[in-house]
Amino acid sequence: MEQDLDKVILSKEQISERVRELGEIINQDYSDKQLFVIGILRGAAVFMADLIRQIDLPMELDFMAVSSYGISTKSSGVVRIVKDLDSTITDKDVLIVEDIVDSGLTLKYIVENLKSRKPASIRLCTLLDKPSRRVADVEVQYNGFIIPDEFVVGYGLDYGEKYRNLPYIGVLKPEVYSK
Ligand code: IMP
Ligand code: MG
Repeated sequence: MEQDLDKVILSKEQISERVRELGEIINQDYSDKQLFVIGILRGAAVFMADLIRQIDLPMELDFMAVSSYGISTKSSGVVRIVKDLDSTITDKDVLIVEDIVDSGLTLKYIVENLKSRKPASIRLCTLLDKPSRRVADVEVQYNGFIIPDEFVVGYGLDYGEKYRNLPYIGVLKPEVYSK
C-alpha cells in the first residue's frame, strides 16, 4: 500500500495527539449535556473509535451510512441514506463524527435530515477539512486538521475501499486514481 503514496501528511503521532486534544474540548463542552455521537460510515469508523475513548462522559453511539463517491474522487452531490440510525435522537445533543469535509454536500444533507428529528443540538466533528473545495455551507465546530486540496487516504479514508487501515494519512500518487 505504501508504494501508492506520494507522501505522508499526518503521522500516527500527530493524529493521536490531535484526537486527544479534540476529546478534551468535547469533554468540556458536553459535560452537562446528553451526548449522542453519530459516526458516518465507513470513513469515520477509525477516527471515531479513537475519539470516543478520549471522551470521559456518558454517551450513546450510533452510525449512519450514506452513499458516497463510488470509485471517483469527486462528490456527485447525490446523497442517499444507506443505513439509518437505530435509535431516536429527540432531545439529545448530537455530535456527528466525519472523516473529511470536502464539498460539504454529504454533511449538509445529513444535518438537515437529522434536524427534522428534533435533537437538542447538532454539532460537527471532522478529522479533516478541505475548505477550499466547499460548495455547501456547513459549520464545523470541531476540526482536526485543515488540509490542502489533495486526495488523501488512510486512518479510515479510502480510495475504492482500499487504504482505510493505514495508521497515518497520506496523499495518493495521482497516477493511482487517474488510471
Ligand atoms: P463531500 O460531500 O464532498 O463533503 O464529501 C465527503 C466524503 O467524501 C467524505 O466522507 C469522504 O468519504 C469522501 N472524500 C472527500 N475527500 C476525500 C479524500 O481526500 N480522500 C478520501 N475520501 C474523500
Ligand atoms: Mg469515502
